[in-house]
Amino acid sequence: MKSITSYTSEAFVIQGGKPLKGRVKVSGSKNASLPIIMASLLPREVSIIENVPDLLDTLTAFELIKSLGASVDFQNGVATIDARYLRDYKAPDEMVRRMRASVLVMGPLLAKFGKAVVSMPGGCSIGVRSIDQHLKVFEKGGANIEVKHGYIHLQVDKIKPVEHTFEVITVTGTENALMFLSGCERRSLLRNIALEPEVMDLVDVLKKMGVEIEIEDRTAVIRGSSELKSFKHTVIPDRIEAGTLMVAGFLTGGEVVLENTRVEHLGSVIEKLREAGAQVELLSLNSLRVKRDGDIKPLVISTAEYPGFPTDMQAQFMVLCCLAKGVSEIRENIFENRFQHVAELQRMGANIHVRDRTAIVKGVEKLSGAEVYSTDLRASASLVLAGLVAEGTTTVRDIHHLDRGYEKLEEKLRSLGATIERLPRREG
Ligand code: EPU
Repeated sequence: MKSITSYTSEAFVIQGGKPLKGRVKVSGSKNASLPIIMASLLPREVSIIENVPDLLDTLTAFELIKSLGASVDFQNGVATIDARYLRDYKAPDEMVRRMRASVLVMGPLLAKFGKAVVSMPGGCSIGVRSIDQHLKVFEKGGANIEVKHGYIHLQVDKIKPVEHTFEVITVTGTENALMFLSGCERRSLLRNIALEPEVMDLVDVLKKMGVEIEIEDRTAVIRGSSELKSFKHTVIPDRIEAGTLMVAGFLTGGEVVLENTRVEHLGSVIEKLREAGAQVELLSLNSLRVKRDGDIKPLVISTAEYPGFPTDMQAQFMVLCCLAKGVSEIRENIFENRFQHVAELQRMGANIHVRDRTAIVKGVEKLSGAEVYSTDLRASASLVLAGLVAEGTTTVRDIHHLDRGYEKLEEKLRSLGATIERLPRREG
């Protein structure tokens, strides 16, 4: 397994203007892998997870469960996890700071040990991101919750069945609740749950462990077990990586075929790409072709929970809007501070005005290469996309954000004809 420092290279240098052409395989989903890695703490025998992307975030998740006593072997996308001998139930501050999704360890630890101590996550670059909804479910299930010295201490003797309606739709909140209630043998009811494909992938895993889960509309009925079985599971393809590569193909005026994707998860992204003028041809359930043979049309985008347009694709689509013939409007409804890429895109010549949660983007003739800084994962992807079409050279710095969530992105883009190079970390 690689060390964390092997991911911290500093910059991409991109020569813009090459249309991307060819075939590319989409990696396993980051946001599906993370809860499934945490769920592997639940059974008492060895579990196997396939199609796990090799990323900074998955590595952090492995480190976290190893620090709790699990043993992990990760090779060629296959993780073999033995959580028989856990000895700890604490997620330390440095892990939670490195990756907020570390909070996903709360549900499984409570279900298995009846105890969890997790550093209280602070705000992050895209918003405040409270975890009150996670805690409300734990509390209803009988957990005692105390915040001491920056840590949340949770303790429960026997998990009680829960009937709960989420006040906001939350992806990791739903996942944590499902993993927690897997440890309760009586029937619980969760309303207003998230239906993202990543949540459904976790549901599949929990069912393989012997948990009974039925979902209708946004309501889940769940009955757990005290003896959860080990599982073998192949993680779904990453729909956000797929969407990013589709935008790359269309934006650069190329023709890209995506393989190993799940077309059914890409509905709203395909719809918006078609509205922008892309030709999207569905080749099979797992493969599609994207190409462009005209101008980019302006868009009206409003981010929403699945099956709506994903917030994780908002920054990438903004780059399309920067070069569209006309004025686009992008409204970010999920996170309150997810427009940090705007200032960097403006440095490249984009015409964008932000008011509250809406960005008005007036299309320009071209973007020009510049030195720009990543602020979060999807913002960095948008800067790479902008670099691929900009005139001249773009240097995208702080790409450790990108390395959290895109497996071998530059290799994939290079295989499609992009000129992109990774600069080693600057010393000092
Ligand atoms: N929220 C609350 N209270 C809670 C939980 C959430 O108020 O207890 C609010 C959040 O502040 C936010 C909204 O609800 O405004 C939705 O947040 P959600 O909990 O759904 O986000 P998350 O679970 O923390 C996951 C993904 C994000 C993705 C969002 C939305 C993982 C590990 N992360 O985050 O992915 O943007 O759902 O789809 O699954 C990324 O991959 O770049 C990324 C940020």
